[in-house]
This record gives sequence, structure tokens and C-alpha cells, in this order.
Amino acid sequence: MQQVTIERTALRVSRVGFGTASMHHLLRAAQRRGLLETAFDTGITHFDTSPYYAYGLAETDLGRFIQHRRDAVTVTSKVGMYSPGWTPLGGLGVWGRKAAGRIVSSLAAPRRDWTVARARTSLDQSLKRLRTDYLDLLLLHEPAPERLQADDFLAWLQDEQTAGRIRYWGLAGESSKYCLWLEKDHPIAQVTQTHDSLDTRQGDPVLDAARSLQFTYGYLAAARQSDGDIAAHDVMQRALKRNDTGCVLVSTRRAERIPELAVAAK
Ligand SMILES: NC(=O)c1ccc[n+]([C@@H]2O[C@H](COP(=O)([O-])OP(=O)(O)OC[C@H]3O[C@@H](n4cnc5c(N)ncnc54)[C@H](OP(=O)(O)O)[C@@H]3O)[C@@H](O)[C@H]2O)c1
Repeated sequence: MQQVTIERTALRVSRVGFGTASMHHLLRAAQRRGLLETAFDTGITHFDTSPYYAYGLAETDLGRFIQHRRDAVTVTSKVGMYSPGWTPLGGLGVWGRKAAGRIVSSLAAPRRDWTVARARTSLDQSLKRLRTDYLDLLLLHEPAPERLQADDFLAWLQDEQTAGRIRYWGLAGESSKYCLWLEKDHPIAQVTQTHDSLDTRQGDPVLDAARSLQFTYGYLAAARQSDGDIAAHDVMQRALKRNDTGCVLVSTRRAERIPELAVAAK
């Protein structure tokens, strides 16, 4: 697997990264662990998670997986979008809360909080679940520029970097929503992780700001939406060409699909 150094950082990651947002569809912990093991065995060393994914269970699973190989992997987690309640004990708990959320949406919908105090507590909890004392990357999860004080957040992120709890920080989500910070080259946008696709090219605001794509996601999901039966290898080749210097995040619930996704970056 090719490795790249992400622009504006010394962060070295695999060209394909594995996203943990949909792992909870596998109800048994052993199945979720198998997914992470397959990703790692195919050369994927970068993993993306969030305290909101599976209400904390994705971080817990990833933490168990990385605890004996922390130096061999890089990990992103996020702040700003939180679970409505405690971390479920297993996949069944996540499934139950999502099912209940279809009737009472507040049981499943994310809580958004853009205070530094909440972000600091969240980072404490993420590090605990991930069984590590640092994150390679901490991203603001779908930030709302009008609702957060970028300079206060930046000061906190710099403090966490100095304390060694995070190596880098940045923004995650639709780049059109945070393009104001890109245009101003605000230091809060040190790293961007943006939704993108081969047809709609939602990542263009990053390129328009004369920056390279750093982390991107969404190519397979978009291809699948427009054509149920996708040629995943071809989509990956084109995605890696579009994001030619960064990391393309993928996700699947089927371990047997991972080698096909990784091979395009070998
Ligand atoms: N705001 C953010 O920062 C943000 C937002 C969204 C996502 N992300 C991150 O990016 C990761 C990936 O996002 P994504 O889910 O949009 O990514 P994606 O990899 O573009 O799409 C995943 C979809 O593609 C399907 N798929 C995977 N391999 C396939 C194959 N070989 N053939 C056919 N279908 C295939 C999967 O279905 P199966 O499971 O059935 O294989 C799934 O429905 C997430 O897990 C998360 O970590 C971040």
C-alpha cells in the first residue's frame, strides 16, 4: 500500500483509509474486529472514527484493535457531533437505539455542541475509548462557522497539540460549508476532510482555495447511488487519481470487499 505525507503536516498515512461509520451493522464484536483486521492486513493503516459513530462503539472497537499496534497505525477522531446518551454495550444496543430513533428522533439524532469545554471532555472520552494517549488528527465534525468561535477553538487545539494529545487538527464535512475559512486560509483549516464524488465533485471548494485534497470520502457511496452494480476497482482508481496526493477513505461492512478497494493503491 502506498503511503503519503499529508500536505501542511508531517502526517504519513496509507493512500486508502478505513472509515468506521458503518461497522455497527455487524452485530457481533468479532465480525467488526475481523473487518479492521482485514483492512490492516491489506495495508490500510489509517482509520477514521468519531464519538458519534455507533454512539461511541466504533471508537471502542477501534481502541481494542489498535491497542497493541498503536505505532503502526494513524487515527482520526472528531469533536462537535455527539451521541445522545451513553455508549451502547454492543451492536444490538446501537441497532435498538437507531430503531427507536425512527419513532422518537431525539433518541438517535446527534447532539451538536461547539463549546470548547464540551470538545475537551469529548477528547478525554475518545482517548479513553481508543485506549491511546494521542490522536494523529482531531477534526471538527461538520462545523457550523456561524456557531463556533474559530479563534477560541484554535487556541484550544494548539494547547492540545502542545500537550501531545493531538498531532494535527482540521475540518470534516462538506467543504462548501466551511469554504469561508479556506478562502481566508484560517489556521483552523490545517487539514480538510471533505465529501467528494467523481460526478458532483463536492471537494472543489478545497481546490478552488489553491489547496490539495487531503482526506476525501464518498466515492463508492455516490457510484452506488447512481449505479447499484458498481465496478469498485475502477471507482477507486479514479478516486485516487482525483485525490492524487491525499488519503481516500472507504467503508464496507463486507470484509471480502476490502482487498479490491485497497489494491488500486498498491
Ligand atoms: N463528516 C465526515 O468527516 C464524514 C462523513 C461521512 C463519512 N466519513 C468517513 O468516511 C468513511 C467512508 O464514507 P462513505 O461510507 O461515504 O464511503 P464510501 O466508501 O464511499 O461508501 C461506502 C458504501 O460503498 C459500498 N461499497 C463498498 N465497497 C463496495 C464494493 N466493492 N462494491 C459495491 N459497493 C461497495 C458500501 O456498501 P457495503 O457496506 O455493502 O459494502 C457502502 O454502502 C466513513 O466510514 C467515515 O469514517 C466522514
